[in-house]
Amino acid sequence: MSSYTIALLDGDGIGPEIMTEAEKVLRLAASRNGIRLELEHGAFGAGAWFSHGDSFPQATRELCDRADAILKGPIGLDHEQTEKIPVDMRPERGALLPLRRRFDTFANFRPVRLAGSLTHFSPLKPEIIAGGIDIMIIRELVGGLYFGAKESGRNAAGKRYVNESLEYDEDQIERIARVAFETARGRKKLLHNIHKSNVLKSSVLWNEVLGEVGQEFPEVEVRHILVDAAATYLCLDPGQFDVMVMENMFGDILSDQAGGILGSLGLMPSACLGPDKAYYEPSHGSAPDIAGKDIANPYSMIGSVAMLLDMSLELKEEAGHVWKAMQSVFDQGFTTPDLTRPGSDSRTINTRSFGDLVAGNYAAAPVSAG
Ligand code: IPM
Ligand code: MG
Repeated sequence: MSSYTIALLDGDGIGPEIMTEAEKVLRLAASRNGIRLELEHGAFGAGAWFSHGDSFPQATRELCDRADAILKGPIGLDHEQTEKIPVDMRPERGALLPLRRRFDTFANFRPVRLAGSLTHFSPLKPEIIAGGIDIMIIRELVGGLYFGAKESGRNAAGKRYVNESLEYDEDQIERIARVAFETARGRKKLLHNIHKSNVLKSSVLWNEVLGEVGQEFPEVEVRHILVDAAATYLCLDPGQFDVMVMENMFGDILSDQAGGILGSLGLMPSACLGPDKAYYEPSHGSAPDIAGKDIANPYSMIGSVAMLLDMSLELKEEAGHVWKAMQSVFDQGFTTPDLTRPGSDSRTINTRSFGDLVAGNYAAAPVSAG
């Protein structure tokens, strides 16, 4: 019997409640496939700072080191709580970026999907997204401005100043480009390269290296598009995109915009892959304003489980069943209060019931022979 350890980092805000639903689905996947899963929770985020004096405590680092994969909830608390934590130890700089760096999770997959039957969630006009939305954003996750050199202080004129650099070397660009081309080859063979080479030298090198890698993938068509124009086209005609690849900061911004065209960041799971380990997380924040109210949709967390099954446990078909199980809950006319639109005739259910319905649908899916 295969056996895996999965680290569960519940995080802050709505993290624990959506993690509970994700855990149901993980356990079900294990029992359906005769797999032994050790699910171990670790403290991570702002809450961990208050309970352990460290937003990424040593025990959690060790748990992540020995885990086969990591499932992570959103992090961060409200402004008032955040202000109590020293700036460099706040959960983004103190936990999330160190997690990404520790496992070198350079390839961030952010699927942007809306089935044709769910287009009412989107703020875009029906004629723009008639066929639904299906884009894979691939974001470089451990380079660029996020991890470049930083300094601040007073300059010669006594003025406060700051300097942050956007750094990439060719190896960093090459590996993410390769991931993007491989992904595009497995889909529609169309890759949009998002850049800003009219201004940034980093984009000039990015495009050059991407072009070199592209020679190994002659079957993939590459379209180069400036990041600002890409932002516009995501609203005007998202159907033109299939796989999009971009550096870290562009990916942070465009992936949130992509959540916007779906109608909610709550519909954005993600996978962050490194050479040896991967972690999975919703792309959204911890929504402290609705935490504990049992109204957050667990879609992004359960979708992250689907990606974990697919990419870390090699259970591709099971992952497909989980996606379908979630879709069916919406198709059955249910939604959670955070996703309800004025005038919609969806029936509103709580976080736990949504998770139960997903698990019920998934349990009814056929178990594959292999
Ligand atoms: C994301 C988030 C993070 C990022 C924050 C929480 C540091 O916005 O994963 O998109 O900027 O990468
Ligand atoms: Mg972001």
